[in-house]
Amino acid sequence: MKNILVVNGPNLNMLGIREPAIYGRQTYADLLAYIREAASALSLNVTCFQSNSEGELVTAIQQAYGKMDGIVINPAAYTHTSVAILDALKAVALPAVEVHLSAVETREAFRQVSYAGMACEKTITGKGFAGYQEALAYLAQRV
Ligand code: DQA
Repeated sequence: MKNILVVNGPNLNMLGIREPAIYGRQTYADLLAYIREAASALSLNVTCFQSNSEGELVTAIQQAYGKMDGIVINPAAYTHTSVAILDALKAVALPAVEVHLSAVETREAFRQVSYAGMACEKTITGKGFAGYQEALAYLAQRV
């Protein structure tokens, strides 16, 4: 079985509470259950990690080196600011897919830049939880 790390950034632990008109009413626990079921259907071994801290996200990506076969990442707000997360993804050089629940391309100007996306093979936006399934399915073929 291939090992995939799913990394979620700041405020995604607030799903269900935060801006439901944008992110929906399902919780972070619902997202974890969804990801685990999708991974199991694709015969992938999945490890999920969420943090509100940029450094912890960088460390989680670094620790994937030599252990994981691919990364699914929603860096949340750090998408638009973090060269450190971009550099960590480049450092481990694992196949990575960027996911955003919302259609970031239709939102504010400051969301139009994705640093992390520059190190990802694919970006999926605006599909809600299904974006994670699509990312896992891509990696299941790729790795
Ligand atoms: C997000 C989009 C980001 O712009 C935002 O800061 C988030 C969530 C998404 O999944 O749509 O926190 O990554």
